Amino acid sequence: MSDPIVPTAYDPKGMKFRYLGNTGLQVSLFSLGGWLTLGGTVKGSNVKEILKTAWDHGIQTFDTAEGYANGGSEVEIGKALQELGWPRDEYVLTTKIFFGTGRKEPNTRGLSRKHIIEGLKASLKRLQTPYVDVVFAHRPDPATPMLEIVQAFTLAINLNLAYYWGTSEWSAAQITEAIQLADKHNLIAPVVEQPQYNAFHRERFEVEYAPLFRQHGYGTTIWSPLASGLLTGKYNDGIPEDSRFATNKDFFANTVKELQSEQGQAKIEKVRKLTKIAERLGASVTHLAIAWAAKNPNVSTVILGATKVEQVKDNLKALDLIDKLTPEILDEIEGVLQNKPKPVNTFGRDRN
Ligand SMILES: NC(=O)c1ccc[n+]([C@@H]2O[C@H](COP(=O)([O-])OP(=O)(O)OC[C@H]3O[C@@H](n4cnc5c(N)ncnc54)[C@H](OP(=O)(O)O)[C@@H]3O)[C@@H](O)[C@H]2O)c1
Repeated sequence: MSDPIVPTAYDPKGMKFRYLGNTGLQVSLFSLGGWLTLGGTVKGSNVKEILKTAWDHGIQTFDTAEGYANGGSEVEIGKALQELGWPRDEYVLTTKIFFGTGRKEPNTRGLSRKHIIEGLKASLKRLQTPYVDVVFAHRPDPATPMLEIVQAFTLAINLNLAYYWGTSEWSAAQITEAIQLADKHNLIAPVVEQPQYNAFHRERFEVEYAPLFRQHGYGTTIWSPLASGLLTGKYNDGIPEDSRFATNKDFFANTVKELQSEQGQAKIEKVRKLTKIAERLGASVTHLAIAWAAKNPNVSTVILGATKVEQVKDNLKALDLIDKLTPEILDEIEGVLQNKPKPVNTFGRDRN
């Protein structure tokens, strides 16, 4: 084989890939996001270093949102991407529209056609790119008719501002309505959801979304695989000063309060027990939590978050653990978690 005419920058290393649901787009099984981190507590050259470390270890999918640091996350990521100079067709970039950038005018947030188009154009300007691969509706907008939302994302794609659109924290009923409206009106349907999914937060992903996976091959880019760090064990004995719960004190005030309650302490106890299972496999509880999420075939990509280069490197070790999570080990994990959601009763009429 001769060398490609266009030089490539990306080396997948040991990365695994999955299709983004039923689309032809391939995403690295681990991706990197910017909530609270890139453009938030992490700025300038540190953003570039974290992105570069991820890329050097095979991550080619990156996630942000107009609302992260009021647009600051997109600015910092855009600047870093310019400096890194990776070919645009070698990475997948996603952003989300809904929360706006902290302005008070009524049309600078939500999912009206006006804000979807104007918000996305402003995001692209901050990201210094002509398009994102996927644009997400960061939340449902009950104030805007669903048909207007589907029309607006179709328009965004027809204007080449994005290639696909998705939903984030929408109910299965809202996603189904959007898909059916797109079908009926010959518009473009959403193809991917960005939900929270981790060992402590399972119900919606595993039960409510099951028909979306089965009937539509809906993709998912899942967030907070470490429950904001709880599943690393770093909060077992208090709140470290340089951790998210301390650096974003107001935002996590309720979470910290909950941690001190009986329910919170029960979660910490589970983290301790999971740590023992992980250690037997030669890994840490962080790796176990990430690999556990990645093991679910309905996950297209696990979005990691990191404030330090070392965290990216550490979290990527979870790749090696995925195949070690045998049915027996998964059962053992269930035994600790005791939170497996009950499937909907099909009264014996289940095709699976
Ligand atoms: N669609 C949505 O509504 C939504 C909501 C939230 C997030 N997201 C997306 O999902 C991405 C990931 O979410 P997340 O950041 O909450 O993920 P997470 O993996 O649950 O938490 C990441 C945080 O945990 C800590 N951490 C990570 N690796 C660690 C390690 N090896 N050792 C110790 N601490 C470690 C770091 O915080 P500290 O160092 O500060 O403690 C890091 O920022 C976001 O960036 C965003 O793109 C989407």
